[in-house]
Amino acid sequence: SAPQDLAGRQVVVSAGGTREPLDPVRFIGNRSSGKQGLAIARAAAARGARVTLVTAHLDADVAPATGDLRTEFGTEVIRVETAEELATAMRAEAATADVVVMAAAVADYRPATVSESKIKKDDSGDALSLTLERTPDILAGLAAERPRGQVVVGFAAETAPDREALLELGRTKMARKGADLLALNVVGWRTGFGADDNAVIVIDRAGVPVAEVDGSKDAVAHALLDAVLELEAARD
Ligand code: PMT
Repeated sequence: SAPQDLAGRQVVVSAGGTREPLDPVRFIGNRSSGKQGLAIARAAAARGARVTLVTAHLDADVAPATGDLRTEFGTEVIRVETAEELATAMRAEAATADVVVMAAAVADYRPATVSESKIKKDDSGDALSLTLERTPDILAGLAAERPRGQVVVGFAAETAPDREALLELGRTKMARKGADLLALNVVGWRTGFGADDNAVIVIDRAGVPVAEVDGSKDAVAHALLDAVLELEAARD
């Protein structure tokens, strides 16, 4: 069994993809399956942490029902749909957490208005324009308000042609978000979202790579938690 090196710690993990409603039957979403976030929650629980999982939409084959997740983790599961709901839940849960991980894929924009009735197509053949507005940056908010000692971890989903470009994009994102650790993953049509494997470079606040994993999402999860513990140890 795994070492209990997170015993006594409260870990909050977000997973899955947000859905931003357009009308009662449509939404703007993304291809996050929830696998990476769940792998982190599972790994933290196996290492002795008390885990709260905050999930946006998960693929059906990843998590059939909230009840099953709760049984599996023996911990708290909070279901949300939109970026706004995720922000509210994360803010509340992060207040008492030792470690916060934002693995959820969060919409950066949402429809500025949500139609009460189903949006009709008009027969003129004209294009339909939607006005989108920004959603709150949850990770940046959590990092700015983190209690003393808390470690805040984010992901950066990038479409980068090579390692150097990925690091450059990651450092720019780190500067904007202010997390303690950022796991950079290349996402594209075939990798990252939905896949069983992931390849990440974890950077610290200074933009220095502290871990690099190319393997299963479980392996990525454990490496990320190792990096959290190393960071905590270096602070003491
Ligand atoms: O779910 P899977 O299918 O397993 O796929 C895993 C994954 C590719 C979705 C995951 O590894 C990942 O990269 N998650 C973050 C996706 C994302 O939203 O990346 P981003 O680069 O747009 O955002 C950077 C960070 O800010 C992320 O930690 C994100 O959670 C956070 N964010 C983004 C927008 C926003 N409005 N608020 C946020 O907090």
